[in-house]
Amino acid sequence: DPGTPEEVTRRTFMANATTVMSGLIGLGLAIPILGSLAPPKNVAGGTWSPLDPAEFKQLQTAAARPIKLSFTLKTKDSYLPEEATAQYVWGIKTETANFEKARPDLFGKSGSAFPVINMGFVIFSPICPHLGCRFDWSAVSNKFLCPCHGSQYTLDGTHVAGPAPRGLDPLPLREQSGMAEITWIRYASSVPDRVVVSYQA
Ligand code: FES
Repeated sequence: DPGTPEEVTRRTFMANATTVMSGLIGLGLAIPILGSLAPPKNVAGGTWSPLDPAEFKQLQTAAARPIKLSFTLKTKDSYLPEEATAQYVWGIKTETANFEKARPDLFGKSGSAFPVINMGFVIFSPICPHLGCRFDWSAVSNKFLCPCHGSQYTLDGTHVAGPAPRGLDPLPLREQSGMAEITWIRYASSVPDRVVVSYQA
């Protein structure tokens, strides 16, 4: 028995109201989640960390080799006190490598969400895009070498050997009150596309 017309109308109303409420709750959850994953339009609003001034000076005078640049990464989990850890990135003077030609993946429409060349330098994350080990520069082979599974990259970050799915990942650089600052970005490993996982930590 479907019930009286009033009962049918009430049931239909309740069913529609439930659908609308679920949709609104889903939307309310989806917006912040999607928003946190999307690359910021302007990373100037993100968290910036100053690079070691003496090492940055070395980069300004460096020949065709990368310079390791130290900084303190401050991370804050909502429930835990702020943590400061020593970190580093790799800096390369752009006049020592032809980035636009060698790394089309960093430029153009499908390129990075922020300008990759700043102040005449490119900054690379020290994390290997294969499975997240730290690679090092080898002056002997003139390449970045990853000790974990043997991925190799040229000075401009082009992937030339080993299992890594893409070239080295860039980080934003800016000048602020006479200091060079970077924003730390974590990218997804083992995928050909450059997918941002987080902008700190
Ligand atoms: Fe670098 Fe595997 S993590 S090659």
